[in-house]
Amino acid sequence: MTDSIKYLLDEQHLPTNWYNISADLPTPLAPVLHPATCQPITTDDLAPIFPRAIIEQEMSLEREIEIPKPVRDVYRQWRPSPLYRARRLEKALDTPARIYYKYEGVSPSGSHKTNTAIAQAFYNQQEGVKRMTTETGAGQWGSSLAMAGALFGLEIVVFMVRVSFDHKPYRRALMETFGAQCIASPSSLTESGRAVLATNPNSSGSLGIAISEAVELAVQRDDTRYGLGSVLNHVLLHQTVIGLEAIEQMAMAQDYPDMIIACTGGGSNFAGLAFPFMRECFQRQLNTQFIAVEPSACPTLTKGAFAYDFGDTAHLTPLVKMYTLGSGFVPPGFHAGGLRYHGMAPQISHLAKLGFIQPRIYNQLECFAAGIQFAKAEGIVPAPEANHAVCAAIDEANKCRINGESKAILFNLSGHGHFDMQAYMDYQAGKLKDLEYDHNEVALALSGLPAIDAALRT
Ligand SMILES: Cc1ncc(COP(=O)(O)O)c(C=O)c1O
Repeated sequence: MTDSIKYLLDEQHLPTNWYNISADLPTPLAPVLHPATCQPITTDDLAPIFPRAIIEQEMSLEREIEIPKPVRDVYRQWRPSPLYRARRLEKALDTPARIYYKYEGVSPSGSHKTNTAIAQAFYNQQEGVKRMTTETGAGQWGSSLAMAGALFGLEIVVFMVRVSFDHKPYRRALMETFGAQCIASPSSLTESGRAVLATNPNSSGSLGIAISEAVELAVQRDDTRYGLGSVLNHVLLHQTVIGLEAIEQMAMAQDYPDMIIACTGGGSNFAGLAFPFMRECFQRQLNTQFIAVEPSACPTLTKGAFAYDFGDTAHLTPLVKMYTLGSGFVPPGFHAGGLRYHGMAPQISHLAKLGFIQPRIYNQLECFAAGIQFAKAEGIVPAPEANHAVCAAIDEANKCRINGESKAILFNLSGHGHFDMQAYMDYQAGKLKDLEYDHNEVALALSGLPAIDAALRT
């Protein structure tokens, strides 16, 4: 084992292909269904929403999918991203554990989201699309697509969840600096937004509502398509550059992770790190543990139902089989806005159902405490979403101290928190509380799950 702190790959080691886990799933995913007919969806059904290349990736069973050169050329601005050994944190925790983190906060917008934003903007531009619409929670995804739009000459419209829009004005300013339009959601611009405002004029918004608004706007114009920042197979695919690089970097460290940890909102940063390692588990029968961390106020994998559900509140998107808290559920307004989603990526849901992924929940306050402990030791202030992974990694490292075990822990530090300082200030001032989700609201949302043909239920 080496004594380095960071493991760096040069540009020549940027992966040339993404890894598609659909090729290696032990059992196939349940089909995606049309929202009106409940029949398996076709490429033509999806054509008004996504460009052809993205639809093909969504349905592909090819194990390796080539990363186009123009996408790799933009990735080279910040990729390969560094992998760190958290030696100072290990010392502070007095743990025999070996803690590693892959740092995605080096991207221009500050998180992993840029990995798919660049790819999506490229494919849209290639197919003549002029404008893309999208949603954003924390603002990380919106800023990433705004930047990608600037690079590929696309107009970008972002519906930003109201609570984050109010909490994070500088994220909005960043999107506008890249030339994007940023609108608070729910808005009065769309039917979906107006319907929510009619019943709740003070709605704090949710990713489900913002997705409805963005899809509604996209299908109104031939030159416009929609881009999603997580959940779907093609988004998870684009994120696998993270894990593919990390495998090489762990080899440079002459070590191998016993456990892999990442936070999960829609699941893309978890998948990005975990899926390439999971392929190694399938191939070499390894016992690597995969821990998906979610907020206790939106515990989709931990407390949700595994069922067909809509990806959005207005039911404009296809039906996918996933863990869900119900598409009508609006999570409380905690600070990790990127984790406030009612559903979970079908690939992750499927693998969790099969027992390959262990979900875990933490409260907001313990996550901020962990983030600050990490920042004091390593000098990086994590995004509130990433604090969930930090919290789990610290927990596991503490268990190693208590049990006298030296495990290798690898987690994804999915983004920095430089735009989240208000949340840190509120935490330090004792103004933040642990928020509980409304159990009745979840029960109500789950009771409204669509009734799908019994033959499709497994
Ligand atoms: C920094 C950061 N990490 C993690 C997430 C969660 O998203 P996902 O589960 O799709 O990776 C987000 C979402 O906005 C984010 O901004």
